[in-house]
Amino acid sequence: MSQNKLYDQVFVNNRKWVAEKKASNKDFFKHLAEGQSPEILYIGCSDSRATAEELMGVGPGQVFVHRNIANVVGTADLNALSVIEYAVGALKVKHVVVCGHYYCGGVKAAMQAQDLGLLNPWLRYIRDVYRLHRNELDAIGDEDARYRRLIELNVEEQCLNVIKTAVVQKSYINTGGPSVHGWVFDVRTGELIDLKIDFEKRMKEIREIYDLGAK
Ligand code: CO
Repeated sequence: MSQNKLYDQVFVNNRKWVAEKKASNKDFFKHLAEGQSPEILYIGCSDSRATAEELMGVGPGQVFVHRNIANVVGTADLNALSVIEYAVGALKVKHVVVCGHYYCGGVKAAMQAQDLGLLNPWLRYIRDVYRLHRNELDAIGDEDARYRRLIELNVEEQCLNVIKTAVVQKSYINTGGPSVHGWVFDVRTGELIDLKIDFEKRMKEIREIYDLGAK
């Protein structure tokens, strides 16, 4: 299907989707218009293959979503930080997920030590992850295995960046949540893998260095 045909199909698809939703629940859009109370904040990659809702099997209203190249949570990225602030502080999500994916082009680009112009400052977040874990990564001889491991380590580091925010620390101290999870989507199999980061231990370790005054 050419790009133009795909573009033309979108509005046809939309009308079909509206009809299907109304057929299964005539008040579906009336309920959507009343507000949202998503349980999960999903921070993922913009990659067209790593769809958020479809791979989790969820529908409108269930998950608050933020996507950027290589699922990064930058320390001065007002976009990502505003999403976290609103999702945790106002919507009171119970879970924050950082979801990377194998074959991530952003991580692949970051692994090349070359000038990539405007992308350089963004890729630096991932190159910093490489530098932090250089001993482990350089010990992996197989390049594909090293690439997969950097994708996983990037997810873990971005989870730590979520935990470094004041809104997450304060909410956790006051209410016990949200919990933070690191996942990887395997493009080759469609499988979602939970990296099972030890959230409570990580929160404690982070707060020893980055305590943001939560009481
Ligand atoms: Co990607």
